[in-house]
Amino acid sequence: MTEEQFSPFFERIERPNPDKAVDFQRHGRLKHLIFGSQLNVPLLEKLCRSADTIRTMARTVDGHRSLRNLLAHKRAMLYFTQPSTRTFLSFMAACQILGITCNEVRDPKTSSEVKRESQTDSVRMFSSYFDVIIMRSQVEKFAEVCAYMMNDLEETEQRSVPIINAGAGSDEHPTQALLDMYTIYRTFRFPQSTAQESSRLSQLKREYPDLVSGPQQKTYLFCGDIARGRTVRSLATVLAQYPGVRMFFVAPDHDALRLDKKLESNLIASGVDIRQFGSLDETVDGQPILAQTDCVYMTRIQREHNSPETETELAALDLEPFRLTKSRVNQLKSFSAILHPFPRDRVVGEIPTEVDQDPRALYFRQARNGMWARAALLVHLFDASEDLIYAHSQSLQSSS
Ligand code: CP
Repeated sequence: MTEEQFSPFFERIERPNPDKAVDFQRHGRLKHLIFGSQLNVPLLEKLCRSADTIRTMARTVDGHRSLRNLLAHKRAMLYFTQPSTRTFLSFMAACQILGITCNEVRDPKTSSEVKRESQTDSVRMFSSYFDVIIMRSQVEKFAEVCAYMMNDLEETEQRSVPIINAGAGSDEHPTQALLDMYTIYRTFRFPQSTAQESSRLSQLKREYPDLVSGPQQKTYLFCGDIARGRTVRSLATVLAQYPGVRMFFVAPDHDALRLDKKLESNLIASGVDIRQFGSLDETVDGQPILAQTDCVYMTRIQREHNSPETETELAALDLEPFRLTKSRVNQLKSFSAILHPFPRDRVVGEIPTEVDQDPRALYFRQARNGMWARAALLVHLFDASEDLIYAHSQSLQSSS
């Protein structure tokens, strides 16, 4: 992407995120989803409720049919010029669940970009044929630029469609934060498995008297590539909205990986208690950090961002202190959640496969939650939340 394509939007890009958010919403609803801090607590709670409704409806044939009619008049473009498995496929599955027709451009060599068409022209063309553009790019702020372009088109009464940022460089990945939060909500609701049981929360309170339900008053431990992990940046920003949150950041001692100053100061300004460590085996207040953690968020070292110089320096690092081995998992609380946005690095093994059977290992469920959470986001963006509630009640009536 050339500077020329960015330059009309420089002034808007340079603003702090809270000042930008107003450009990405309409009548109190999201118009575009560009960064994590747009996901405020009431919106997250609404999207989690919709995701629950969609997953419940999808269990029955009638519910499934109703869902497929919900947005059958809409078309989505998946413009993914950076590799993806989960985000691409879960968005596609979410569209299929809701009846949205999808098309994709993944390799720009198959588009007219090979004829020197600019990426902004490509996106404007997509808006001629589709009703939403879901985009992943290695270029930071590209989704944001496209959202401004759509706003400018709307102002001049031209066709304009919502933009969803599905990952932009090492910058932000807001829909990953959405599915991470959906997983956290579901886990820390402490659901009962049977009606006869006393609530799981009251059982756990015998061992952990201060435990409360919900994302608040919890310790979140982020481990690995903190500085370049766009999923970490988006999720930490969203979690900072909840009271009593503490965050542990565990990263190798290298500037390319440690918590960056901008995120650190934003989190501190939001009142988050932050601690930084150089190993998963460290202690704080005389207790192992893992024993104090409610949710571990493991990440991969993102080698694709390495310069040749960084590649050599990072190759010399000992990554063993950043692997969540079985013996380290054993230090966690009995209800802790182990999350990872995936992919994991099969060579480094930041979570060895032997941990996969542990009931606290939620990363495969987390990836599946992405499908429900992204479907809920599409319902919200297309202002179909009331239609979803109505379709749910109708499907309940027809099955009773
Ligand atoms: N978590 C995530 O963004 O995975 P993909 O890169 O496979 O989409």
